[in-house]
Amino acid sequence: MYQYHCLNPIAEVGLDLFTEDYQKTEELNDAQAVLVRSAAMHDLELPEGLEAIARAGAGVNNIPLEKCADKGIVVFNTPGANANGVKELVFAGMLLASRDIVGGIDWVLENKDNENVKKDAEKAKKAFAGNELAGKKLGVIGLGAIGVRVANAATHLGMEVYGYDPFISVNAAWNLSRNVKHINSVEEIYSACDFITIHVPLLDDTKKMLNKEAFAQMKDGVVVLNFARDLLVDEEAILTAIEEGKVKKYVTDFPNTITAGKKGCIVTPHLGASTQESEDNCAVMAVKEIKDYLENGNIRNS
Ligand code: MLT
Repeated sequence: MYQYHCLNPIAEVGLDLFTEDYQKTEELNDAQAVLVRSAAMHDLELPEGLEAIARAGAGVNNIPLEKCADKGIVVFNTPGANANGVKELVFAGMLLASRDIVGGIDWVLENKDNENVKKDAEKAKKAFAGNELAGKKLGVIGLGAIGVRVANAATHLGMEVYGYDPFISVNAAWNLSRNVKHINSVEEIYSACDFITIHVPLLDDTKKMLNKEAFAQMKDGVVVLNFARDLLVDEEAILTAIEEGKVKKYVTDFPNTITAGKKGCIVTPHLGASTQESEDNCAVMAVKEIKDYLENGNIRNS
């Protein structure tokens, strides 16, 4: 039986698992494999003898990939394992941007001791009126495990869905509903869509992909959703676009001092994959990857 060191607590998966504080790297000295969730590993000494790192999640920007390559350490991620959790929160984001749910809840809290609350609500609710998602155009940039799920689910809500991914895989294409229009130019998404959600990995090429030039091509009143990584969006530029009325709402799952508490920004604390189901799925997939590699030399999702 291998001992698996975890840098963050991970669900039980039927193997001997124990956790370590991620700062105490000396404790990892005889580890053959490390499982990590979101903790950044860039400043850590990677122990000699370490053979594999499994990132229990999709993005690997918290892993020092070059250092691992130099040392021959195989890095795995768990594509798709938390995609449903993220997908569901994207729809929560779209609803929060379209309906004043938070304003309505706050109003009820303020009126919790008002004995006429039921009657007064009928007048107050006019101030919280919103819009529906059905009939609106949604652009999905990036058709990996999450983007495909978002695109397909949106068709069931009656949205007209455009999907864009320059590197769409045959698998992803097959997984797309026939009701999703797969288009070849991201500019078409910018000019056509009422909602735009980005689901690409953070790479040099994708950094600040949604920038001033992109916002200028978008429809007035567009809602932009970012459940992928904050650096994909030029957030200074999106604040300006909000001021100018170009962007109605920016929904992001990555809080920072640029967007937190700012006009037009709806910000959650990286909750996309924070569900019991997603955490369990990632942990199980990550452990299976490591086990298969250490025992059989098989490499999947590296
Ligand atoms: C991911 O990369 O899988 C998501 O951002 C969720 C996470 O990091 O926990």
